[in-house]
Amino acid sequence: MKNQVAIITGGSEGIGLSIASALATQGTHVYLVSRTLEKLEKAKEKILQQGGKADIKSADITNIDAMKDVIESVYKTHGRLDIFINNAGTWQGNSLDTPFADIWKLIELDMKAPYEIAHYLAGRFKEEKNNDLRILTIVSQAALQVLGNSLGYGVAKMGLAAGLFHIEKELQKEGIQNVKLYRLYPNTVATEKMMDAVRANQVKDAVSPETVADTAIDLLSDTTPTRDARIGYYIDKGIVRSYYPSTPQDFYHPAEIIEDVIDPDFTIQDLLK
Ligand SMILES: NC(=O)c1ccc[n+]([C@@H]2O[C@H](COP(=O)([O-])OP(=O)(O)OC[C@H]3O[C@@H](n4cnc5c(N)ncnc54)[C@H](OP(=O)(O)O)[C@@H]3O)[C@@H](O)[C@H]2O)c1
Repeated sequence: MKNQVAIITGGSEGIGLSIASALATQGTHVYLVSRTLEKLEKAKEKILQQGGKADIKSADITNIDAMKDVIESVYKTHGRLDIFINNAGTWQGNSLDTPFADIWKLIELDMKAPYEIAHYLAGRFKEEKNNDLRILTIVSQAALQVLGNSLGYGVAKMGLAAGLFHIEKELQKEGIQNVKLYRLYPNTVATEKMMDAVRANQVKDAVSPETVADTAIDLLSDTTPTRDARIGYYIDKGIVRSYYPSTPQDFYHPAEIIEDVIDPDFTIQDLLK
């Protein structure tokens, strides 16, 4: 990761900041993108204090023209873009009583925006044969199973995974080697926003954002069995990574899901230390 250049959407907090921080520690120059400048400044300061290289760009991922400007300005500055962490998004519970306009708005944020960005990047960089680009999208366990209260979020994340596999298929058809897609499907993650619920014992099955970041780094380093990893804590097993097939042909009909128990001794109390 040394001397590489990365853009991280939602890099000002939560999972995005943890991945940005892990990349910066390895020598990657990270560009943090989100809407709120104050949070971006704070996150940048944190990475600089760790000895990393960080810059910030304020943009809304639902505005594709603004995102294209961010991508092109970083590419122009460095003459390269190595990693794009397609992470920004949010959770919101919906029921049959939720106005459909609210559900659709969530789908625009959690599905349309990251899909449109990945579509743009794949089309834009497939001709840049000297630029290897890895696009890692933070999807969710909600793409792998039907959860409750998820009429917006679950549909968005399933649609997002499907969209990414359709892009994968086109890259495969065209024999494109320099753009690679990676997908990470976390179960519950104890981000700052989640910690009150963890302390109150309302959330019992979360992993730390750093655990998610470790998985992201391993995926991007191509040291994992596939480019599709689920990460989560299971009370009876500990922290487990499950690797799903990475081809559009096999993802929806996996012959095998490879399980790797990475910390059998973890307990939720470890998050409170
Ligand atoms: N936490 C979990 O348990 C969990 C589990 C599975 C998957 N995920 C997925 O992981 C990703 C990150 O989640 P998180 O829990 O780390 O979120 P978080 O702590 O709420 O952070 C979200 C980040 O995204 C930014 N953001 C939100 N809307 C944006 C927009 N329209 N344009 C640009 N930036 C935007 C936020 O900054 P601003 O608000 O300032 O823009 C912030 O930097 C999401 O895609 C989420 O679905 C989370």
